[in-house]
Amino acid sequence: MPFETRFLEPKDVEALLALERTKWDRHQAATGADLEARIRMYPQLSIGVFDSSSGVALASLFMKPISGDRVCSAADWADCARVEELSEDTVHSLFGISLTSVDADSVTAIFEFFWPYALNQGWRDIYLGSPMPGFRAWKQANPSSTAEVYMRERRHGLPRDPQLRYYYNKGFKEIVACKPGYFPHPASLDYGAVIRGRVPLSGGALLWRHVPLPWLQRLRHLLFRLVRTSRASS
Ligand SMILES: CC(C)(COP(=O)(O)OP(=O)(O)OC[C@H]1O[C@@H](n2cnc3c(N)ncnc32)[C@H](O)[C@@H]1OP(=O)(O)O)[C@@H](O)C(=O)NCCC(=O)NCCS
Repeated sequence: MPFETRFLEPKDVEALLALERTKWDRHQAATGADLEARIRMYPQLSIGVFDSSSGVALASLFMKPISGDRVCSAADWADCARVEELSEDTVHSLFGISLTSVDADSVTAIFEFFWPYALNQGWRDIYLGSPMPGFRAWKQANPSSTAEVYMRERRHGLPRDPQLRYYYNKGFKEIVACKPGYFPHPASLDYGAVIRGRVPLSGGALLWRHVPLPWLQRLRHLLFRLVRTSRASS
C-alpha cells in the first residue's frame, strides 16, 4: 500500500483520533486536545504515516525531550508524557509519549524517517514506557513472583513479554525500571517497563550535526538495520 511518512500537523488530528480509537480503549486513548498540544509543542518529534490514497492514519509516534533523571523519578506515564517547555538546554534524550500502529511496515517507516533527523538534531537515546501485556497471565501461573522478575524474564534469549520483545527487536534493548501504577493497562496489571534505545551512531553526536540532512537520509535503511542488530549496553 503506498503511504506517506512525515511530521504531523494540527490538521491531522481527526485522522489520528480515528487511529487512536482502534488501538487504545477510552481510558487510554489521547484526546484531540492532547494530540494537538503534542504536535504544536514538539513538531519535529511528532511523526505519522498515512495511506496516500485515502488519507487514513496508519501509525503515529509522539516524542518529547526529557532528561534521564526525570524519566527515572517520574511516578507514572502521565508525569513523563506531560506537554511542557523544557527548562534545560543540555538534554539529549527523548521520551516516546506514544506509538500507535495498525500496519507494521508503517512503524518501520517511522523509525527510518526519524533516525537521520535524530542524528542531525543531536538526540542520543529514546526512553519508552512499555506495557507488559503478558504479565497478568504470567502472574496467575507464578503468584509469588514480581513484575520486576517478569520484566527481565527471557525465552530463547529474548524478552518473554511480547511487547518488550517487539521493542527489543526495534532496538529498545536496555531495561531501565519497572514502575507500578504506571498507566491504566489491565493486562499489565498497570505496571510499565521503562526501556531505552540508543539512536544509531549517535556516539559521534557533534560530527553528525554538521553532516547535511540529505546525506543522513541516504543512510536511513542502514541506520534502521544498525539499531536492530545493536547489543544491549546494560
Ligand atoms: C504496539 C504496536 C505499536 C505495534 O504495532 P505494529 O508494528 O503495527 O505491529 P503489530 O500490532 O502487528 O504487532 C507485531 C507483533 O508484536 C507483538 N506485540 C506487540 N504489541 C503487543 C501486545 N500489546 N500484545 C501482544 N503482542 C504484541 C506481537 O507478537 C505481534 O505479533 P503478531 O503479528 O503475531 O500479532 C501496536 O500493536 C499498537 O498500536 N498497540 C496499542 C498501543 C500500544 O501498546 N503502544 C505501545 C505503547 S506506547
